[in-house]
Amino acid sequence: MSLIESRAPADPLVLFRRWYREAARNGAPQPEAIALATADARGAPSARMVLFKGLDDGRFIFYSNYDSRKGRDLAANNRAALVFFWSAARHQVRVSGKVSRLPRAASIAYFHSRPRGAQLSALASRQSRVVRSRAVLEKAVADLERGYPKTVPLPSDWGGYALRPDWIEFWESRTDRLHDRLRYVRRREGGWRLERLAP
Ligand SMILES: Cc1cc2nc3c(=O)[nH]c(=O)nc-3n(C[C@H](O)[C@H](O)[C@H](O)COP(=O)(O)O)c2cc1C
Repeated sequence: MSLIESRAPADPLVLFRRWYREAARNGAPQPEAIALATADARGAPSARMVLFKGLDDGRFIFYSNYDSRKGRDLAANNRAALVFFWSAARHQVRVSGKVSRLPRAASIAYFHSRPRGAQLSALASRQSRVVRSRAVLEKAVADLERGYPKTVPLPSDWGGYALRPDWIEFWESRTDRLHDRLRYVRRREGGWRLERLAP
């Protein structure tokens, strides 16, 4: 579906949800895989993939380690950007805004919905720190496995983030690279300003 042919909705999240559903229907292998760009206090950028875990009150949710490189970046500079790319549909969505941490109760609920192995790995891993060997990590997991035979506690440095968009851009591939780009910019007074960008 083309942005030109379809009338763009007033709410970008309506369009986002439509494209996301389409990506999943088109068999995108991991439609929820997103690039997350952060920058440190000096402005040095850093990007990596994370998993998009849904929308909450118009905010884009993902989970990570608060003391990782991205976590330290976000603590120093809460501005970040996300990129979705769904190749079969030839769609890209870019999202930019400020990030805040989810309430701990939400992180606890999500953490305990994950497989036990993933919970243990999160607890064992001081994400983004140098480790001497893989054996060190495996031993840490084995020790925790014995230490927590039932419930694995949420690590104090692990949890959810919510990015509240300042703008969202929808890109759709068109012939001869005369692509469509529609950007929604959040208005101070509420609602969104919609503009078309040159490809
Ligand atoms: C497809 C994919 C999904 C990933 N999802 C996550 C995720 O949801 N959370 C996370 O912390 N790391 C995730 N990772 C690992 C990150 O890309 C990255 O290696 C890690 O978070 C450390 O990044 P940092 O050192 O910049 O903080 C994922 C990697 C890939 C390839």
